[in-house]
Amino acid sequence: MGNVNRAILRGMFVMLLVICAALLAACAGNGDQGAAVDVTPKQVLLGFSQLGSESAWRLGNTKSIQDAAKRAGVDLMYENAEQKQEKQIKAIRSFIAYRVDVIAFSPIVEGGWDNVLTEARDAGIPVLITDRRIKTVDESLITGFVGSDFYEEGRKAGQFVLQKTSGESHVNIVEISGTIDSTPMRQRGAGFRSVLAGDDRFTILESVSGDFLRSKGKECMQALLAKYQDINVLYSHNDSMTLGALEAIQAAGLTPGKDIVIVTVDGEQAAIDLLKAGQINCVVECTPLFGDKIMELTKKLAAGESIPRDTYSEEKVFTEFDADLMDLPKREY
Ligand code: AHR
Repeated sequence: MGNVNRAILRGMFVMLLVICAALLAACAGNGDQGAAVDVTPKQVLLGFSQLGSESAWRLGNTKSIQDAAKRAGVDLMYENAEQKQEKQIKAIRSFIAYRVDVIAFSPIVEGGWDNVLTEARDAGIPVLITDRRIKTVDESLITGFVGSDFYEEGRKAGQFVLQKTSGESHVNIVEISGTIDSTPMRQRGAGFRSVLAGDDRFTILESVSGDFLRSKGKECMQALLAKYQDINVLYSHNDSMTLGALEAIQAAGLTPGKDIVIVTVDGEQAAIDLLKAGQINCVVECTPLFGDKIMELTKKLAAGESIPRDTYSEEKVFTEFDADLMDLPKREY
């Protein structure tokens, strides 16, 4: 073997040694990292499908949930369905594909959820219903509900009408209801009627749906005013529609709160301001601020614990008769 070949071989041998040393060092490094156990607790991942952004109430609800998730250290996958059930179903399917720990959603309407919720159950993901309810033959598809007692809200509205009109021989009522087939629409209507039923002084002239939207509340009230000259009470299922209806009443030359008694549900700041100003007579509170409760229940479900079937928010009624009306603190929505 010549000198040149020997020199080449030596060079290759040295290079091999360098490569081996580098590989050993890399392996030793990896070994150290692998030996360290990751003790960071796994964050709970919650998929939440909001139904839309139709009102100040809904915006307050979304903010409450997003803020609460941050406070609780829950990872939130948030989807807004913009008032379309198909979009909510699609969002729930994406949460299942993503294998979130818990799914929560506020169902826009009550029917049509069984298939997608069966898929969630088959994937072993617990589902929490928030704000509104669903109609299902299989109650095991959901683990629980958090939100308001809408029937009770309707009853409170009816009780105010009874109080306000005591002494009147006949009372004509118009109702602007929420989204058809939604829980608040059904239950606020039923609770209200349960209080007035059997008292023939009351006539519900007509009930129309304003879909919880301000613009539709105005349109509905315009149509009602054109049809009936003797409306005594407006019962509106949310503040957004009420604000629209008040515009129509004023445009017709009438004074809301005086010519027509106004009863509304939610308790947005704008409605409380109008109650103080005498243009609304009664505000039944429906709070959107249950984000913290959702996070508490989500963590329990992710830990495999059971939760109560129904968790209701505490709610008040604000009326023109309240002695402390002017001292009401600022609202969060
Ligand atoms: O489901 C709750 C209702 O939905 C609120 O009363 C209303 O403002 C919203 O659109």
